[in-house]
Parts: sequence; structure tokens; C-alpha cells
Amino acid sequence: MDWGLANRLNLIIRPETGRTVMLAVDHGYFQGPTTGLEQPRTMLPPLLPYADTIMLTRGVLRSCVEPSSATPVVLRVSGGTSILRELSHEGVATCMEEALRLNAVAVAHSIFVGAEGERESLLNLGKLVDEGMRWGMPVLAVTAVGREMVRDARYLGLACRIAAELGASVVKTYYCDEFEKVVAGCPVPIVIAGGKKLAEYEAIKVTYNAIRGGAVGVDMGRNIFQSEAPVAMIRAVRAIVHEKKSAGQAFALFEKLKNAAHA
Ligand code: R5P
Repeated sequence: MDWGLANRLNLIIRPETGRTVMLAVDHGYFQGPTTGLEQPRTMLPPLLPYADTIMLTRGVLRSCVEPSSATPVVLRVSGGTSILRELSHEGVATCMEEALRLNAVAVAHSIFVGAEGERESLLNLGKLVDEGMRWGMPVLAVTAVGREMVRDARYLGLACRIAAELGASVVKTYYCDEFEKVVAGCPVPIVIAGGKKLAEYEAIKVTYNAIRGGAVGVDMGRNIFQSEAPVAMIRAVRAIVHEKKSAGQAFALFEKLKNAAHA
């Protein structure tokens, strides 16, 4: 593997554990000021020390993150649609030159398997991988799931495998029953999104089950930044991902840190 590509991947999936805690704060690119993310400039600094990478757009990066930040950046480059219209017609909204200028360690692009924009999103992913390969830039493919799709192992397994076949270096998907089958059918590492906000213990259990099922980590947003104690939550997630803690141990850590912060 090209040295630059390998180095960037090592800055995402930590070589010490083979795992990663990615913090996703890119939601605004299609849904505007998402609850908990209205003020990224104040919300992000306490979380960054506990994130192996941060996933966001160039706009929030430039305006809300200090260039002295040591947290590697996964740059959301797909976009061009909003929650007001059909989301699946995204295109590539940020070019590779910009990703290199911003010192990104990967670019993120959504695919919409089974939706109206399936073909264009898959061809755009292929083109992005072609370009990424020229510059040593990994592409993280996000399996976006439309309302009409069922988040089961059959559908997510199909979407993840297609993303890997088109050359994605890492695939981001959702946890589901029989998640092991999704992992087994995907030849590149998988990270999970957290999805809609759950009670903290539930989100911790999803994290635990996903890691046990073969995910290399999380690329989690709402279940961290919408938590009643975001720093406690990301640290609990880290304890599972990097320190092999059980869901019970991680939840106990969450409660302890939450109570200490509120004391
Ligand atoms: C959606 O395409 C965005 O990439 C989100 O960043 C992603 O779904 C992860 O965030 P969450 O853990 O809130 O689902």
C-alpha cells in the first residue's frame, strides 16, 4: 500500500489497538443546526482530546476548529442536497485539492443503495476513490439508509460490500441483528454510526455489540454530542473500543464521570 495512504489509515485506526473512536459532527451538511451541534465552536474542544478523528465539513472545520488541533480530520466531501428534498442525489461538493489543503486523513462520501440516487452515488464513490488513490487519500464510504429501507444484515451487507468493491478503505454503517454477517461479507474495516439518540446505556450496549461483532470502532455523533454528559459518553465509548471494557463497566464509568462533572 502507498505510504501516504497507509499512514493516513493509521491515523484513523490506531495501530496500538487496531480500533478507532471517530467523532461525527457533519450532520449540518444536510440537516442544518442539529440539536447539540448548534455551536460547534464551544461544543467541540472538550471532546477532541478523546476522539481519534473528527468527521466534519470544511466550513465547520475552518470556522470552528483551531488549526493547532491535533485531532486528525475526516472531511465530509459529499453533499449538495438537504432534508427538504430527495437526499440521495448528493454529489461531490468538496474537491480533493481542498481535502489535501486541509490536511485531511480521509474523505467521507455517502452512498444510497436502493434509493433514487443509487447509481450516481456509487459512480461518484468510484471516481472519488480513483482520485484518492492518486493522492494517498483514503475514502470512507457511508451507507446512507433511506426511510423505506430496512436496516437488516441483508441490506447493510449489500451496501457495505458494494462500497468495498468500489474501493472504499473504510465503510461506515449501522449496527443490526446478525451484524457479524455484514462484517464477514465486507473485506475492509467497518465502523458504526450511532444513529438517533438512545438512552446512554443502550448506546453503550450497541457499541459493545458492534465491537464484539467485528467492527473496528465507531463514527458516532448524536449519541455523544446529544448526551447529557458528552465527555463522559465519549470516554465510556473509548473504554469499550480501546480498553476492552464490558458494557456494564463502560456505563459505570459514564455515571462516575457524569456525576463528577455535575458535582
Ligand atoms: C450522516 O450521513 C452523517 O454522516 C452522520 O455523521 C452519521 O450518520 C453519524 O452520526 P450518528 O452517530 O449521529 O448517526
